[in-house]
Amino acid sequence: MKYFIANWKANKNLEESEAYLVLLTQNISANQPILNKLNGGELKIILAPPAPFLPQLKFKIKDIKNIELAAQDISQFEEGAYTGEVTAKTLSGLVNYTIIGHSERREYFKEGEDILFRKAELAKRYKINPIFCIRSSEDKFPPQINLLAYEPVSAIGTGNNENPIEVIKIKDQLKLNPSTAFIYGGSVTQENAKLYLQSGKIDGFLIGQASLDPLQFIGIINHSLT
Ligand code: PGA
Repeated sequence: MKYFIANWKANKNLEESEAYLVLLTQNISANQPILNKLNGGELKIILAPPAPFLPQLKFKIKDIKNIELAAQDISQFEEGAYTGEVTAKTLSGLVNYTIIGHSERREYFKEGEDILFRKAELAKRYKINPIFCIRSSEDKFPPQINLLAYEPVSAIGTGNNENPIEVIKIKDQLKLNPSTAFIYGGSVTQENAKLYLQSGKIDGFLIGQASLDPLQFIGIINHSLT
């Protein structure tokens, strides 16, 4: 299974999000090779829009198998008097995935290991699969994580994607459980994506900038899988 995860971050309003979904679903429906891979369980497309749009977007993707939604983050609290927080409990039934520990959360919101491990535990409690992000082999991650995203800070949003050979070296250092999918993120584009998948050791991508345009996002999927 190959994963293509679109992390929209704090971009797009409702109108833009709906227009994106129209283009994305139209293009995928007209693309038999991608449809075959989605239907055959070889490919999963995961969209991580801003949380308020999740319900509308869930409705729009319901007819295509293996396109799913992720939250970009969840609260470290389970429920209660935490104004403004979006909890795993709130999101349960709405998303199957959540990103946890993105380097922007670590940097701007000072989220450290304890908080991130708690978030991963809460996600699992509410049947949400964490896409746990690490910045280097120094960052710890919870045991039994199904999706681990390696995103070196030097590569995020800079145009300096990390060489696939270096990425694989990091993977080898991590000694992952064979069932853990290893995802790369950082300046992934249509031009560079294929190289990562060719190794057979990288199971997909977490894509920021290039996922904001549905045609570029589909371009990455097309170019790397064919
Ligand atoms: P980028 O972002 O693709 O824009 O480098 C990746 C990410 O932050 O997940």
